[in-house]
Amino acid sequence: MTTFSPETLRLHLAAQREVVEEALARVLPPEGASPALLTSAMRYSVLAGGKRLRPVLCLALADICGFAGSGAERAEVAEAAAALELIHTYSLIHDDLPCMDDDSLRRGRPTCHVVHGEAMALLAGDALQTLGFEILSSRPAGESCAGTRAEAASMVARAIGVAGMAGGQALDLVETGRPHGGEEGRTLLRRIHALKTGRLLAVSASLGALYAGAPPSLRLEVERYGERLGLLFQIADDLLDVTGDTATLGKTAGKDSAQAKLTYPSLFGLEGARAELDRVLRQTREAALAVEGRDGLLSALATWAGQRDR
Ligand code: IPE
Ligand code: IPE
Ligand code: MG
Ligand code: MG
Ligand code: MG
Repeated sequence: MTTFSPETLRLHLAAQREVVEEALARVLPPEGASPALLTSAMRYSVLAGGKRLRPVLCLALADICGFAGSGAERAEVAEAAAALELIHTYSLIHDDLPCMDDDSLRRGRPTCHVVHGEAMALLAGDALQTLGFEILSSRPAGESCAGTRAEAASMVARAIGVAGMAGGQALDLVETGRPHGGEEGRTLLRRIHALKTGRLLAVSASLGALYAGAPPSLRLEVERYGERLGLLFQIADDLLDVTGDTATLGKTAGKDSAQAKLTYPSLFGLEGARAELDRVLRQTREAALAVEGRDGLLSALATWAGQRDR
């Protein structure tokens, strides 16, 4: 029996998001900090809300893997988790630029470049990414955590670079507007989604396990769960672009087909994409069971990620 009803999950997510918001407030440049043009663009996009899934996932895995630090150490891990949100927000700001997806709405607000101009949006993304690494390489503090910090920074760098998010974004752009089909098309699509979205989600989960000092075998299971959750999350994102509405999503619906993006609905059709989502959801729940040993938070998170409406 699951210990996480939808209501229990909702309460858990709300409480964890609160922890993340507090950590973000501690690590972001304060309001009005110089140069104000840049810091206000950074704060504008980060503080627009969002589901905070990457930091929440990191904190969830830290707890599940038995994090036993003091209150002060927990606050530092929350800041490291917040760094993942800074990096994710950087990826969104750049993803929305006219040279990429050219989007004018994000998190229910005009996009960063619409309000702050392209140059400041570009720099806000750059500065959020580097701030993220500055945090990852300084928390948790103390000589005994030096190895953990180095490993965390290296793991995140790999997850968002050529073999991760940036590589996936490049493939996404290159394949936009091209005809796709067959096994080749499916393999390519899975690769794009695994890279552009899956790797950052997977490393978010893995970081939680790292901070908890989980053994290698458990870290492997955690990574597997994160990868599957990441693919599931992006299939749901593709579906929501077709079936969701702009007001609920906080971003413009229907953009993928308008731009001829390679997505699950474009390749499998709507029903086919839903069937793929169900298949990957089952795989993600299996991976959750392997980590947690029961039908608990990770399984509930997977169900939520597949059935979400925003
Ligand atoms: C949007 O990510 C981009 C994808 C990887 C699908 P989220 O759906 O997590 O966006 P926010 O953070 O909640 O705004
Ligand atoms: C973006 O995928 C993934 C990122 C790495 C930002 P999408 O382009 O589908 O994300 P949305 O729909 O704009 O949020
Ligand atoms: Mg995109
Ligand atoms: Mg986009
Ligand atoms: Mg999308």
